[in-house]
Amino acid sequence: MGEISPDFPEYDNQTTEVWDQLAEWWDDKIGDGNDFQNYLIEPSTERLLALQPGEKVLDIACGAGRFTRRMAALGANITAIDHSEKFIKRAKERTTENADRIEYMVLSATDRSALMSLGQAKFDAAVCTMGLMDMSSIEPLISTLPKLLKPGGRFVFSVTHPVFNSGTSRQVAEQHVEDGEIVITQGVTITDYARPFVYMGLGIMGQPIPQHYFHRPISLLFNTCFKHGFVLDSIEEPTLPEELKGKSRMPLSFNNMPTMPPVLVARMVLKQ
Ligand SMILES: C[S@@+](CC[C@H](N)C(=O)[O-])C[C@H]1O[C@@H](n2cnc3c(N)ncnc32)[C@H](O)[C@@H]1O
Repeated sequence: MGEISPDFPEYDNQTTEVWDQLAEWWDDKIGDGNDFQNYLIEPSTERLLALQPGEKVLDIACGAGRFTRRMAALGANITAIDHSEKFIKRAKERTTENADRIEYMVLSATDRSALMSLGQAKFDAAVCTMGLMDMSSIEPLISTLPKLLKPGGRFVFSVTHPVFNSGTSRQVAEQHVEDGEIVITQGVTITDYARPFVYMGLGIMGQPIPQHYFHRPISLLFNTCFKHGFVLDSIEEPTLPEELKGKSRMPLSFNNMPTMPPVLVARMVLKQ
């Protein structure tokens, strides 16, 4: 069997159009933070990045720049890229502090030569929060990062969990009686996992149009990084706290499954 590609380049243009159409709605909805960002993505990413003031960081698929601004507040200098002009416009509008430490650019992470133009051995670290599963192609980015990063540089990314929150995963509930009491158990079923595929999904309930998701099994995601000289250095599978149980308007939300991780966060480091 030949090597399986993680990429779907035929979707490169479509995904840019879809994200441009979603950007303003998306930012209005979660630009000030939601449970996933506050409890899962940002704390884990911050921990794994372990930023030092003055470090140079590439923020890939920055959206409206919420995490970009957090890193700048921690003293880092950020180059933040996104392929959506509308997201970058929002990001600039929202940046009122530490603007001298942030440069926003419209640039697709699927465009190898545009990535190379960012500068060789320039960054101490790269970060991509909740972006890789939205990217039609990841090989251009992951193969270029070793050139953009300084020797030993780190790449921290978060994705919707490839097992529990991707592709065909379905949130389910079962009800039974135990010792005379009704017990409801929530979990996840998965019927298609071990191959990459594209599907249309919803990142936020009620969004005006669905977005493409690119399901990649864990082995394919990490093997793409290993192939280009990264090693896995640290990994987190954060879960939502008990106190959020029942606090979502979605009855089968991950809020009600405090032992199921909806996201996966990893730190890759360049082999020296
Ligand atoms: C779920 S949002 C995450 C945004 C931000 N990183 C955050 O955590 O709030 C996914 C982002 O990926 C961006 N994206 C998808 N494909 C991209 C590509 N090829 N190049 C750059 N950005 C891309 C989208 O425009 C969007 O901003």
